[in-house]
Amino acid sequence: MGILDKHGVIERNATLLMVLSLVVVSIGGLVEIVPLFYLQNTIEDVEGMRPYTPLELTGRDIYVREGCYVCHSQMIRPMRDEVERYGHYSLAAESQYDHPFQWGSKRTGPDLARVGGRYSDEWHVDHLSAPRSVVPESIMPQYAFLKRTALNIEYIEDRLIADAMVGVPYTEVMIASAKDDLLAQLDPYSDGIDSLYANYDERVVARNFDGQEELTEMDALIAYLQVLGTMVDFTTFEPVASR
Ligand code: HEC
Repeated sequence: MGILDKHGVIERNATLLMVLSLVVVSIGGLVEIVPLFYLQNTIEDVEGMRPYTPLELTGRDIYVREGCYVCHSQMIRPMRDEVERYGHYSLAAESQYDHPFQWGSKRTGPDLARVGGRYSDEWHVDHLSAPRSVVPESIMPQYAFLKRTALNIEYIEDRLIADAMVGVPYTEVMIASAKDDLLAQLDPYSDGIDSLYANYDERVVARNFDGQEELTEMDALIAYLQVLGTMVDFTTFEPVASR
């Protein structure tokens, strides 16, 4: 009687087959999952990554509220067609401060992981207000109301505290100056700009994003779109494996 004949016993006994399958699958699972508990960190630290500024974070909340993720992913896969179209494939570290992450699962429109800096602010204002005015064949809905909706910044400190609770390194200082930092990002000539740079990064882009006097949701959303994919400098980045 060879080993294959003995296997027949298992195949004819549904309960035994189920129990043994479970054992095999559990071993596979343990081998994959247990080592993760012994790693200090499953995300490689990457230079340049910083938490979102209060204005970017508010813009991100609008992105989530409006369901932009339903049509747009933020996850460039390491395949050649993706990398040539969108740029360097996405790193885990690039979503480390995203709660929840915005990888998405559907692309009715293009991936937005590296859209920052690709278009001017004016282009974004036009495109979001009336997509077909700049891309005639576009099927994207219009979001012109964002330009007319005042940005609510009443709870910005709480918003940072909430992210800090899930591990985003917002400090007491950053939380205390959240409102000032938010306003400073819209005016690079204001007094608060040094605090914004000190709390986040000298490279934070500060300007009037929607071109209007008023602080609107359009400002915040465009500040967010313009930072996407720009934190890591890929001219100097080297993956761990090649270091
Ligand atoms: C119903 C699907 C849909 C939704 C919802 C949607 N978009 Fe789009 N988006 C598209 C399509 C399709 C395109 C490509 C055509 C175009 O540029 O308008 C696009 C293009 C874009 C582009 C230009 C990307 C590039 O690389 O050219 C940006 C930026 C963008 N969308 C942002 C947003 C934001 C922000 C929201 C939420 C406020 C949003 N979209 C919601 C479908 C959608």
